[in-house]
Amino acid sequence: MKRSEINVIMRNTVEFIKEQKFYLPQFAYWRLEDWKRKGSEIQEIIECQLGWDITDFGSGDFNTTGLLMFTIRNGNFQDSSKYAKTYCEKLLITEEEQITPLHHHYSKREDIINRGGGILQIKIYKCDEEDELSEDPVVVSIDGVKKNYEAGGIVELHPGDSIYLPSNIYHKFWGKKGYGKILVGEISTVNDDYIDNKFYEERKRFSTIEEDEEPLYLLYDDYKKFGIFD
Ligand SMILES: [Fe+2]
Repeated sequence: MKRSEINVIMRNTVEFIKEQKFYLPQFAYWRLEDWKRKGSEIQEIIECQLGWDITDFGSGDFNTTGLLMFTIRNGNFQDSSKYAKTYCEKLLITEEEQITPLHHHYSKREDIINRGGGILQIKIYKCDEEDELSEDPVVVSIDGVKKNYEAGGIVELHPGDSIYLPSNIYHKFWGKKGYGKILVGEISTVNDDYIDNKFYEERKRFSTIEEDEEPLYLLYDDYKKFGIFD
């Protein structure tokens, strides 16, 4: 992805969350020079991978296959003794027909929440022992109500609705056509997107960035690249 494209997505996000009356923590708006002035007091932000996360999953077309995320809170996946948090919260923004490809997590258990905007569609399958798609029906909990779906069935989440996805359920999601973009919440166990995702078809979780302009705000995948607190 080009840095200029990421900057536009960030600007649109800031506008959209303002309309939705959702607020991000202050570090969301730190500029590169602010990051560079910080020292060990921001260790938790770096080690728990907090911050902006924008990816096209290597597709080259963010609008078709891509996702904006912002990790608001998290623990440390690799060393749980370092931080007390056993949970993670993310903001996600999904556009109409913008696909997050089919994947499951080895460890993470998550609630995906439609917090406002359009309608979120989620295709689900059980995952078998070999990480393949099972043909078995899928039983899920939607806000505490048990529901049955066929393998590959599509769950629709309207604003306010949420689904619990245990680690053995493959999921793929997008915004339903004609209903607008969606402010999605994710509450989960501690997360590490560098190692905990299994994509059904091979995908790049983090995009390679072409630096055609200065970053507006840093992605958490940028902290190392820009030498923040190292
Ligand atoms: Fe997921």
